[in-house]
Parts: sequence; structure tokens; C-alpha cells
Amino acid sequence: MKGHRRTLSVDLGERTYPIYIGPGLIDEPDLYRAHIASPGVMIVSNDRVAPLYLARVRAALSDYRVGEVILPDGETYKNLTTWNLIFDALLQQRYGRDCTLVALGGGVIGDMAGFAAACYQRGVALLQVPTTLLAQVDSSVGGKTGVNHAAGKNMIGAFYQPRAVLADIDTLNTLPRRELAAGLAEVVKYGLIRDPDFFIWLEEHAGALLARDDVALSEAIERSCRNKAQVVAADERESGQRALLNLGHSFGHAIEAAVGYGNWLHGEAVSAGMVMAADLSRRLGWIDQTTVLRIRRLLHNLELPVDPPASIAIERWLELMAVDKKVLDGSLRLVLLRAIGDALVSDAFSTEQLTATIEGAC
Ligand code: NAD
Ligand code: GLY
Repeated sequence: MKGHRRTLSVDLGERTYPIYIGPGLIDEPDLYRAHIASPGVMIVSNDRVAPLYLARVRAALSDYRVGEVILPDGETYKNLTTWNLIFDALLQQRYGRDCTLVALGGGVIGDMAGFAAACYQRGVALLQVPTTLLAQVDSSVGGKTGVNHAAGKNMIGAFYQPRAVLADIDTLNTLPRRELAAGLAEVVKYGLIRDPDFFIWLEEHAGALLARDDVALSEAIERSCRNKAQVVAADERESGQRALLNLGHSFGHAIEAAVGYGNWLHGEAVSAGMVMAADLSRRLGWIDQTTVLRIRRLLHNLELPVDPPASIAIERWLELMAVDKKVLDGSLRLVLLRAIGDALVSDAFSTEQLTATIEGAC
């Protein structure tokens, strides 16, 4: 059975916006019309997604003047040089302040187009049309946008909310299995940080999710987005609980940077990172080994890596983690677990405990 359309809201006062989840959404002119008031639309996509979906989005946008900018595909291109191509296209095609950027692609495109929308002529409208599971459950929602710097991931960016998110689950049918699994890592994250019932549901539905069962996927996307929307509504600019969404990310970002952006997928790095965060929580006596093994098992069943690459030296780990955005007054803070469904940001670990987690994992 095809999943039906589900609609959620990210409640941010006058910037409140809907998230639509369901099949066939990218073909629906009314959905775009409801959220695009401008005469001009610039679709930002990449050379992998555009051949699959650009023509259909263009067809649904036939009421508008539509331009396109097609970026090279991949995390390695999530940088200021590639980002600038969006402004080249907007300026060459004479788009003004009254345009809307439509981000058609995964998290890389969403983050780059979102950041461009935040900056072009001091801010233009943005619509997120995420086409990876990771982007549908995480990056398209909540307004974090940006690009990487050689010194660290997502180091340059802005908070900038879209007018709407259109998560068309049919687009996931063309997603490689490895990318699907990478998205599931961020799904598991919500269970771990704040939704223990969802974690149990994921344990029961791992097979259905990997088999791309429409109903299971819609349910997982809705529950993930509901969790994320609640966190973002409570703490849009990450002064508190939003930081919990970074479970596994400090370890994961170090993995991504050490092996070179794009070699490990973001979700894969987060998966191994979440196991490391669980291991450190165990060393602090907050969770037991059975819980760590349960987390490992679910991620493993979702075809995700549960250990980091062995090739990263301990000094490199510590160096890379020191540039993490959660470093405060020189002290590294990590998202750790008190239980499945209960996370906190803490610096209550020693360098020896952190080193033991890293050495134990490698
Ligand atoms: P991605 O955007 O690189 O997409 C993965 C691959 O799938 C790419 O090759 C892409 O072109 C391809 N693809 C996209 N949709 C497809 C489809 N429907 N069919 C076939 N191929 C398709 O990676 P991602 O995993 O979507 O996103 C990772 C990025 O998101 C990272 O840069 C990460 O930092 C960022 N991120 C941001 C946030 C946030 O809150 N802004 C949250 C999590 C992750
Ligand atoms: N993906 C982390 C956040 O949106 O805050």
C-alpha cells in the first residue's frame, strides 16, 4: 500500500512552515503554489539528481519563470567555490530579491542552496525538496545551512528556515542502498536522544525499512521529523537541547575529515560515532554494556558501520575533535547517553576515558 500524505508543522511563530511527507509530491503544482509567492524560481540541484527529477519539478512549476543551476555532485564540492556558482547563475540570469530558491537533492544541495538563499541579496525565499532519506529526516528541516572548510565540516553557514519542505518518498526508490542506510543512522539518532518507543519500533521494522516499504518509510520519516520539529521549535539556534541532535557527530565529523569528505558517508560516520558516544557513556557508568550492544545491533542490522576506520591515529582524533563546534572555553563537550531515549551534552569525561573509547573502537 502506498503511504498517504502526512503534514507536520515546524512552529516558529511567523516563520512557521509545513513539512509534507508522501508519494508523488514533487509533481504537484498546488504544493509549490502554496509556498512560492515570487515570479522567479531558481532550482538548485546536482548532476546526479537533476537527470532523475529536474524535468518533473520544472513541469510542476510551469506557472513561474524557472532557472536552474546544476552543481557537481558530492560532499567534496560542498565548499565556497562551488557555492559561488549559485550566485553566478542568479546574477547572470538577473534574479532579484523576489525570487525563490528550490533545493532539489540531498543534504549537500539543501545545505548549499539554503545558505545561498540566506545570503543572496540579504535573503530570498527557500523551498526544500529533499531527495535522500537523510535530507528528508534531518537536513531539510530546521534551517541549518552551510558549507565545509578545509579546517572543519559545516564551519561556514547560517540558520535560515525554508518556506516549506516537500519530502516525496517516491524519490527514495532511486537512492542507492548505502545512502538509504546512511539516512537510517539519523533516524536511529532520534530514538536514542529522545524517543525510546521509536527506538523499539525501529528494532522491529529494520527489515521493512531496508526493503523500502512505503508505509514503514513514511512512518519513520514522520516520527523523525516530528522529533526534529519539536526540538527546533524549542531551541532554533542551538542554545540548549538542539545540540542533542549532534549525537555521534563529533566523532563522526572527525572520521569524515580524517578519511576525506565523501569517502565515508555522513550517516555512516554518525553511526560509528553514536556507538563511540554510547561506549563513552558506559565508561562513565551511565549505561550498561547490554545497552551499548543493543545500539550496535540495531545499527548493524540497518547495514551501518559500528566501528570507525582503524587508520586514524589518536593524536589526529583529538586534533579533529578540538575544532568541533561544541568546544566551549577550550573544553570539548559531547552528546552522551543516560539511557536509550535520554541524552545530555556533557564534558564530564576525562581525556583518558575519551582516549580509551577511541582506542577501544579502533
Ligand atoms: P548527499 O546530498 O551527498 O546525497 C547523497 C548522494 O545521493 C549524492 O550522490 C546525491 O546526488 C545522491 N542522491 C540524492 N538524491 C537521490 C535520489 N533520489 N536518487 C539517487 N541518488 C540521489 O548526502 P546526504 O546524505 O543527503 O546529506 C549529507 C549532507 O547533509 C552532509 O553534508 C551533512 O553535513 C548535511 N547535513 C546537514 C544537516 C542540517 O541540519 N543542515 C543535518 C544532517 C546532515
Ligand atoms: N542536524 C543537526 C541539527 O539540525 O541541529
